[in-house]
Parts: sequence; structure tokens; C-alpha cells
Amino acid sequence: MSQAFAWLEPALGALQRAHWWRQPRASSAPAALVTLEDGGQPLINFCSNDYLGLATHPAVKAAAIQAIQEWGTGATGSRLLSGERPLHAELESAIAHWKGTEAALVFSSGTAANIGTIAALVDPRDLILADSYNHACLKKGARLSRATYYEYRHNDVEQLRHYLKKYRHQYRRCLILSDGVFSMDGDVAPLPDIRQLGAEFTAMVLVDDAHGTGVLGATGAGTLEALGQSNTGVIQMGTLSKALGSLGGYIAGDQSLITYLRHRASTWVYSTGLSPADTAAALAAIQMVQSEPQHRQALHDRIQQLAIGLAKGGVQVLPRSVPTPIFCLPAPDVATVQAWGQQLQAQGCWVAAVRPPTVPYSRLRITLRADHTPQHIDQLLTALLSLHI
Ligand SMILES: Cc1ncc(COP(=O)(O)O)c(C=O)c1O
Repeated sequence: MSQAFAWLEPALGALQRAHWWRQPRASSAPAALVTLEDGGQPLINFCSNDYLGLATHPAVKAAAIQAIQEWGTGATGSRLLSGERPLHAELESAIAHWKGTEAALVFSSGTAANIGTIAALVDPRDLILADSYNHACLKKGARLSRATYYEYRHNDVEQLRHYLKKYRHQYRRCLILSDGVFSMDGDVAPLPDIRQLGAEFTAMVLVDDAHGTGVLGATGAGTLEALGQSNTGVIQMGTLSKALGSLGGYIAGDQSLITYLRHRASTWVYSTGLSPADTAAALAAIQMVQSEPQHRQALHDRIQQLAIGLAKGGVQVLPRSVPTPIFCLPAPDVATVQAWGQQLQAQGCWVAAVRPPTVPYSRLRITLRADHTPQHIDQLLTALLSLHI
């Protein structure tokens, strides 16, 4: 390799020494039970974001196959050039209808939705205030926008107020960024308080509801619905890739916001349209979320079962104001969380051992699925209690 790349080997060595080495592991199709590429017994899957099991739902798969038959595999162009298909508008209107907003726009990933939207709304004349536990793509979008950026302590609305008082008047626009459900912690943001502050200080609020979409609220519309919040005057971002089992991201909000993004969000304007299969799968999944609430009910039954079992066993989890399918069990260090992950796997449970730099401190991240049985949860509880956490 040329001298210009000589720094790579030492950099990789440093990653290994810091226990930051990562290696993907292929598994069978998403389901409650999966097998990993290195063989062995089927494991109960506590790693997936396919909360409702829709990634393999027959109606969702059929919609994707039908879309490929009719429209081919790729959109083959940006939406403004040659990549627009009737399915895109159908999906956007289904999202807007479901979320109770005037309009919606779909992007080819949640990451593209966040990065493009943030950079379209603010620039170096502006201020971003963001929760310190936000998803990496919100942080990246904030940095790329080149707005002045401050993080407030996780869910600390008093510190957010303090920053607004101190800095808001020095900037043209202000954007507050928060996950709705925090992806690695499973707790829910105090959105009523955050939106109140947004109104008080004339700040836009963007809620990343990647993990609330399809899961929270009476119709699965997400965190704002669960908290009884209105859908106007707020930017709701979400993904099509978690409870909806597809791929892509969206922004839902007021019509003027969506029209503006259609002109100014570079990750939408200059990027190939969402594939027909992904678009149709997401559309069918939204219909399933609305017409088959039993998946969401089953998920919430399992959430309750695990929460009660952990409390009875004296296992500490991060407290949550709203039940969510993500459970975070803090670990003292990287070596311990990796050992826990292996011990759980030996007992038939596949649980993510998440380490820095993805998160500030190591933890087990457990995610539940609607198709877990009560016996799956019992097996997980037995395995977790044997760790003596
Ligand atoms: C909170 C949150 N926001 C955004 C994203 C990015 O979504 P995507 O995977 O569609 O790029 C994720 C996904 O991992 C997420 O957890």
C-alpha cells in the first residue's frame, strides 16, 4: 500500500487495543429465533429493531415483490429528475395521514433525512441545542450544518432552558434536536417541556422518532401521540427501517416545511429516490400497523413481562416514563459487557453488548419483538439473573 495510507495499520491497532474492534455477524432472516453465520443452535433474537415482526410479514413481502414486478428494482434517478413513481406520493400521504401532519417527505435512509433536514434549516448564523444522547446522525447533521452547537445533559430541560436564555438572542434561527425514544437507552424525551421551551424562545423542534414509530401511541403513530402532543409546528423525523421493516426515512410536518425541504434538503434533491420495493413495503407496513394492532399489543405485553421480571429479580435498568421495547442494562466496563453478551448467547439469548464510542458507557441493549413468546422472555430473565448484574 502506498505511503499515503501508512497511517491505517497503526490506527486499526489502536482500535483493537481500545476494544473498539467491530465485526458484523450475518444472521438468518429477522424473526424471534435466528441462527448466526458461525452456526450453532438457534438463538432468541433480542437484537433486532423489527419490533412488530413486519420485515417478514407476508403482506409486506408481497407488496415489495409486486412493486418490483411493476416498477423494477431501482428508482434510477433523483425524484426531481426521473426517479418519481406514484408509490412515493402514496407513501408520503399515508405517513402524513397517520402522523396527523399536513405533509411528509421520504428519504433513502433515516440518516439522510436527518442530515439533509438539519443542514437545510440552519447554517453558521444559527444555533442548535441538542440532547447529549441523541443518535449519531443527528450529531453529524448538526456538525455538517456548521451552526453553533451545544449539547444539554440527557433529558435535562433546565439546562436546555439555561442555554436558550444565554445564547438564543445571539443567533438568527434556533433548532432543538432530540430523539423521541433514545435508541440505546430506551427512555423517552420530555417532549412537552421541550416544545414549551421551543415556543417560548422561538426555536424549531425536531423529534427523531425512529424507535417510537409503529410502537408508541394508540395508533402506533409514535412518541408525540403517546404523550398526547399536537402534530403542528414540529418536525417529526422517523425511519422506515425499524418497526416498519423496510428501509428509508421520513420527515413529517407542516406543508411549508416539507415544500422547503423538497427544494433545499440536498440529501433528497440530489439522491436517487427510494426503491420501489422499499417504498411499497413501508406503505404496506403502515397499513398493517393500523389494521393489525394485535402486533403492537403483543409487544407491549412482552415489555411489561420483562419489566416486571427484572424488577422482581432486582436487576437495575434505566427508568422510563413510557414503556418502550428497548431495555438498557449498564455494565461497569467493556470487558464485562462482552463477557455478559457471550454468557447470554451460551444460554440461547442473542443480546447486543454495546460499547463506546457508540454509547458513553457500556451496556446490554435488549430489544423486544411482538413475536417473542412469554417463554422467550422467561428464558431471557433466567439468563440475565444468572449474570448477577
Ligand atoms: C434514533 C435513530 N435515528 C436515526 C437512525 C438512522 O436511520 P437509518 O438506519 O435509516 O439511516 C437510527 C438508526 O439506526 C436511529 O436509531
